[in-house]
Amino acid sequence: MTSSDRRFRVGLLGHGTVGSAFAELLPRHAERIELITGLRPELAGVVTRSDGSFEEVLERSDLIVELIGGVEPARDYLLRAMRAGRHVVTANKQLLSRHGEELWETARAEAVQLRFEGAVAGVIPIIRVLQESLAGATVERVHGIVNGTTNFILTEMARMGMTFEQALAEAQRMGYAEADPAEDVDGRDAAAKMAILARLAFDTPVRLDQVRYEGIEHVQPDDLEYAHELGLELKLIGTAERIGDGLSVRVHPAFLYPGHPLATVSGPFNAVTVESEAITEITMSGPGAGGPQTASAVLGDVISAMIPPASTPPTSQVLEILHDVVSAFYLHLEVADQPGVLAQVAQVLASHQVSVKSVVQRGLGDQARLVMVVHPVLESRFQAAIATIGGLDVLRAPPRAIRVLEEEFG
Ligand SMILES: NC(=O)c1ccc[n+]([C@@H]2O[C@H](COP(=O)([O-])OP(=O)(O)OC[C@H]3O[C@@H](n4cnc5c(N)ncnc54)[C@H](OP(=O)(O)O)[C@@H]3O)[C@@H](O)[C@H]2O)c1
Repeated sequence: MTSSDRRFRVGLLGHGTVGSAFAELLPRHAERIELITGLRPELAGVVTRSDGSFEEVLERSDLIVELIGGVEPARDYLLRAMRAGRHVVTANKQLLSRHGEELWETARAEAVQLRFEGAVAGVIPIIRVLQESLAGATVERVHGIVNGTTNFILTEMARMGMTFEQALAEAQRMGYAEADPAEDVDGRDAAAKMAILARLAFDTPVRLDQVRYEGIEHVQPDDLEYAHELGLELKLIGTAERIGDGLSVRVHPAFLYPGHPLATVSGPFNAVTVESEAITEITMSGPGAGGPQTASAVLGDVISAMIPPASTPPTSQVLEILHDVVSAFYLHLEVADQPGVLAQVAQVLASHQVSVKSVVQRGLGDQARLVMVVHPVLESRFQAAIATIGGLDVLRAPPRAIRVLEEEFG
């Protein structure tokens, strides 16, 4: 680009759900963007699997937008674009959660911008908030509902009493779940997003393989029914929190009390809560995904990149990643309906220093259900208690346990 040339040329890699929406959005907003930035953006070329040449598009672009997804060739293209001095924008959580440090390091070395708002939580501007608005706050914890598919499924299971399979079929019918929903329902998609959020919130390297995750495939409709009686809502929660000198990053289903800011987030929506002493707590929510929504976040990044200065996050520390953390639990037991069973279970829990907060008991013929919530306890201690309870003769099915977030918000 020369000083007399007021054009800003955007090379687009990928023309699928998000890429095609971006290609439509860019010319519609070109005039307004020119008013803001003094430069008129235009598409310099598109590369797909079957069409276009990366080298040619790179040559005639000022900035590269990567909307291919996956690791390769997206990684190679982004590195080559940055080494050629181009700013880059991506929505690729898979790539950033695996190779983020290499990409950020390259952006810093080449003094170009690498922006990725579309990679986490759809249109919620959480990346910008962590990198810019909260740059002066010490973040203690980030909680997020960062996968819209699973939130929709859990909402339908609770609302309509559907099984997981029925709710998943409904999500696919409504376009909220892919034909292959594995990465969404088993928690991997949310884990990738939490790795990125943790990296930014705590200025420490976090890789996807350091994030422990569980999905929602094993949640039963009656877990939701009983929990409702205890006043709880089930969500797939991603958490990144500072614990002493370490960091825990994890994704699992968790029950929330009604006052929790994430408890009312339903359907395909996402939400992220950031906690810090300085700001107490802020929560942002909005649509979690979708072509036009993500394309809008990508376009926002392109506009930001057109206005210097560049910002790439340095790591300021290396925190140990912790795996055994404290949590409250919901515990669902199918037991023989005979005297002394509750006492037997209570004894096992007590011997592992697990204390019970509330219990619901129901008789069902010669069986009974014991549904309880226990006070916060180290996970390893709770799992040991569950292993012992699972071996009791009076058990009629394997115990089912789901974490409960204990905090009350006023
Ligand atoms: N969909 C969403 O709602 C959403 C939300 C947030 C973030 N994202 C992220 O956005 C990115 C794009 O997602 P999407 O849903 O738009 O994907 P998509 O619909 O599958 O589109 C992928 C595009 O990339 C092209 N492509 C695939 N392999 C390629 C290769 N080797 N070389 C060049 N082009 C290649 C495909 O080309 P062909 O057309 O020739 O097959 C297609 O145009 C992903 O990183 C995803 O995680 C998506």
